[in-house]
Amino acid sequence: MRPVQSFILMIILCSLCIVFYYSSFNLQLAYSHRSLLEVSANPTPEGNRVNHPPFGKDSKMTAFKEAKPSDPIPFTSSVPPVLQTAVTVSASFREFIPQNQAYWNRLLHFQLRRMGQRQEGIGQEGSNWSSCEQNPEHLRTNVHDFSSYPELHQVFIRGMDCRHPPILINQPEKCTSDGGDTFLLFAIKSTPKNFEQRQAVRETWGREGVYSGGVRVRTVFLLGSTSQDDPDLSQLLAYEGRRYGDLLQWGFKDSFFNLTLKEHVFYRWALTHCPNISFVFKGDDDVFANTKAILAHLQSLEPDKASKLYLGQVLTSASPLRDTKSKYYIPESFYEGPYPAYAGGGGYLFSGSLIRPLYGITLTLPFFPIDDVYSGMCFSALDVAPEVHPGFHTFDIREQDRENVCVHRNLLLVHKRSPQQILRLSRSMKNPLLIC
Ligand SMILES: *[C@@H]1O[C@H](CO)[C@@H](O)[C@H](O)[C@H]1NC(C)=O
Ligand SMILES: *[C@@H]1O[C@H](CO)[C@@H](O)[C@H](O)[C@H]1NC(C)=O
Ligand SMILES: *[C@@H]1O[C@H](CO)[C@@H](O)[C@H](O)[C@H]1NC(C)=O
Repeated sequence: MRPVQSFILMIILCSLCIVFYYSSFNLQLAYSHRSLLEVSANPTPEGNRVNHPPFGKDSKMTAFKEAKPSDPIPFTSSVPPVLQTAVTVSASFREFIPQNQAYWNRLLHFQLRRMGQRQEGIGQEGSNWSSCEQNPEHLRTNVHDFSSYPELHQVFIRGMDCRHPPILINQPEKCTSDGGDTFLLFAIKSTPKNFEQRQAVRETWGREGVYSGGVRVRTVFLLGSTSQDDPDLSQLLAYEGRRYGDLLQWGFKDSFFNLTLKEHVFYRWALTHCPNISFVFKGDDDVFANTKAILAHLQSLEPDKASKLYLGQVLTSASPLRDTKSKYYIPESFYEGPYPAYAGGGGYLFSGSLIRPLYGITLTLPFFPIDDVYSGMCFSALDVAPEVHPGFHTFDIREQDRENVCVHRNLLLVHKRSPQQILRLSRSMKNPLLIC
């Protein structure tokens, strides 16, 4: 009996090995096409200069196919020195994300192993991040229930590696034209049709200029594009961009699952066109932010805190929602494990010096469909923990306080507010007769 038992055991072990070998082999196949990671082993001193716009004439241009094969969109895969960076993924993050059969987990650990084979996760090889339609065969093999995913999730996963949308409206002189370094950059996620929200923000908390203490505030709105079923807003947006000089628009569909892509292209833009930002506020266009209080807080920070800031309303021990009807639904076979602590995406602050390492990390971490969870992952990979500030309310405040100006004076951010509410709050806060 004994030899028979050990023989059976041997067979079982062998088949397990074969199954494992083939499952990683499939990932290998997909990733072996990658030829150039935008990370260089030797960041040059040139790295800080701004003379290599990523979409400039010098860059190598080629075309990728979107869903519409007849409509080629140019992208560049050469790496301007300004974007070169070297990153290491923290040990705590490597351990935090469980190694299991879920697709994202496997992609991540596959990338980390590849990085481990090179020195310190720095290398020349990797994706050129230009695959805009992943091989369906590959996806069916690696995600066993892919065809039962909701349409949006399927679209997201098929385009996960498509990272070079063209820039349609740019403000290349934003941070350099009138001199002076940017103390705070408001980077506001908006969508093409939100003209009214943007105007309310411009007239109130997003007003650009030099504030008390001589600190300079600049504002950009981050936009994707409308789809073909929507009215054509391109002329209106072009005018708005010229008139206010604060629009950035890229040629990808402005959708919830594309917010991670929006974040990635924003980092790239900031590295290229806006050097020396001290702090970034990243948030939505339907929030009320208390700019004076934010600036006062930032100016009070000790230097070591100021260089590693990630501040907002922190969500700890969150996990993927498995309800297919939820906006935040994540299938089990896509991601399994808890989320690292992250700051709610309605609005949070971080150090400008982190933009470069964050950008480097996004070249290693596969995109995740929920943008603030993805940011949390990136900060965690850099070993920067989110810090709680009680003044951030990304889920609004008590109903009886919502029109109370005095309550808002002590807050840094409230979600969500209509353009009219934003204007009213802002006006009453400026009222010299206000007694709290
Ligand atoms: C990027 O990779 C794809 C295949 O993964 C390849 O077809 C394409 O030529 C590459 N593009 C550049 C510019 O290297
Ligand atoms: C993201 O944008 C691309 C480019 O426009 C589009 O093809 C894709 O469908 C969008 N993805 C999602 C999940 O909306
Ligand atoms: C950025 O700051 C550094 C040091 O503070 C300075 O040397 C450099 O000129 C600044 N760059 C720009 C473009 O302002």
